[in-house]
Amino acid sequence: MSEDSHPGLSRGLTNYGDSDFARYLRLANARSMGYSTSMLRKPVVGIASTYSEFNNCHRSVPDLVKAVKRGVLAAGGLPLEFPTISLGEPYLNPTALFFRNLMAMDTEEMVRGQPMDVVVLIGGCDKTVPAQLMGALSAGLPAIQLVTGPQSTNRWRGERLGACTDCRRFWGRFRAGELNQAGIDEVEGQLVATAGTCAVMGTASTMASLSEALGMMLPGTATIPAVHADRLRAAEATGAAAMNLLRAGIRIGDVITEKSIENAIRVLLAIGGSTNAIIHLTAIAGRAGIKVSLDRMNELSDTTPVLVDLKPTGPFYMEDLHEAGGIGAVLRELKPLLHLDCMTVTGETLGQRLAAEAQYVDRNVVRALDAPLQPVGGLVALFGSLAPRGAILKRAAADPALFEKEARAIVFTSLEDLAARIDDPDLDVEPDDFLVLQNAGPLSPTAMPEAGYLPIPQKLARAGVKDMVRISDARMSGTAYGTIVLHVTPDAASGGPLAFVRTGDRIRISVADRRIDLLVDEAELAQRRQTTKLAASVPSRGYARLFHREILLADEGCDFRSLTAHPTRD
Ligand code: FES
Repeated sequence: MSEDSHPGLSRGLTNYGDSDFARYLRLANARSMGYSTSMLRKPVVGIASTYSEFNNCHRSVPDLVKAVKRGVLAAGGLPLEFPTISLGEPYLNPTALFFRNLMAMDTEEMVRGQPMDVVVLIGGCDKTVPAQLMGALSAGLPAIQLVTGPQSTNRWRGERLGACTDCRRFWGRFRAGELNQAGIDEVEGQLVATAGTCAVMGTASTMASLSEALGMMLPGTATIPAVHADRLRAAEATGAAAMNLLRAGIRIGDVITEKSIENAIRVLLAIGGSTNAIIHLTAIAGRAGIKVSLDRMNELSDTTPVLVDLKPTGPFYMEDLHEAGGIGAVLRELKPLLHLDCMTVTGETLGQRLAAEAQYVDRNVVRALDAPLQPVGGLVALFGSLAPRGAILKRAAADPALFEKEARAIVFTSLEDLAARIDDPDLDVEPDDFLVLQNAGPLSPTAMPEAGYLPIPQKLARAGVKDMVRISDARMSGTAYGTIVLHVTPDAASGGPLAFVRTGDRIRISVADRRIDLLVDEAELAQRRQTTKLAASVPSRGYARLFHREILLADEGCDFRSLTAHPTRD
């Protein structure tokens, strides 16, 4: 490889007005790290490390970095690790999504600003993989994704459990009085037993799967458990593959295309993946100038069956999917529906990959295309007077008995209002009502938290009610389940119709018709528009101010307006 095509440490010199001096100064400093000059002339593979003690899902990253470096060195490159922001889902306030774009900016600018020829992105926890793909796409260099891999499951009193669907299941039992404080304390100690990301088909697992479907990850590596030796071998192979990517001249924009985004949506629908993923895919696509429309998602959903039944909807965990054949098995089933000419990071097309790989599949976990779990995809977008720009329902995780229904709205105006009243014994609520949460969308002060999984009011939970229709502009954890309508757009804080719903109003949903309507006449709504004060307020400084000024709504991926491929004016 010539230095011209892969300038390595000579790339993007610091500007002193004298490029020879800048190169000399950079090499003088680099030599202080003990590298020989021949090493410093090699192509540079940047390794984006997201290790953080605020992110348990990433505690194995240092071992993965070591293994990636092995692969890079063996393939003739110079591996240089660099840190970026890490986002540990349960540690961040107000929510990890608030920081996703900050991480994407950090990744983009460090990939572009530092002298590397290709980048290995090591992510895992929910927002990290989308942030890395968004940033790397905007930076435009060759890039390859590696993930920390899923956690392994554990046992508690004979019961198999793993984060975090079981976290919610046991919490529901605790709230219903079926488990006492000592019991829930014991469960707390057993839910997250290993390094890695949540053990179910939550957002992290979904985004890992979609990254493989996009062609951004080595075949078969999305599902390898975090603690399996194969995970380290995958990391080593990823380091070597980064060098091959460079030699082949494949850039990230050659891999993430309109067709590969559509493949990823197919896989999202077939695996019953997280609702968050549609926001993330929309944002990733937006960095490449590709629009993901919810109407198109509905078309794909109507023609993509559900093939995989992991928790939160089914009985299985990610380690089961791995043993059953992984994402490769899903892709092989979906083959007639996929764009097989999409390029991948190995230099093979998706079609070549699928033709070459082993055919093993465990049909208990990955169903055949002609014998699916459900004939249509896991997600559906609803539109109507309550959500003119769409809302999302994970129908794979919902109760079909609630799909065609009109009911009374019980409205909570904020998360604080929800917390204050949901368990009030005097709350006027019936099992047939719709619970509505306002002001939890992108423009709200809480920046679209995973609060859409409104708890069943305690008095109903204790009476045995397991599910109700819940509607909000919030998101929902990929590990949650129920008949939950999310991402209502425009959100309440930006003045969408959701802001004007009042307790006692009637709402109608029809999954068959893809509708969600507020049954209040226009004159009354106009009156409410005049008198309702919106919850959005402009933060006075810093990143929060930038977020508020730049954030796009859910149907545009919640990216920042100026970071998309085609920024629009305010
Ligand atoms: Fe990190 Fe679930 S908390 S993946």
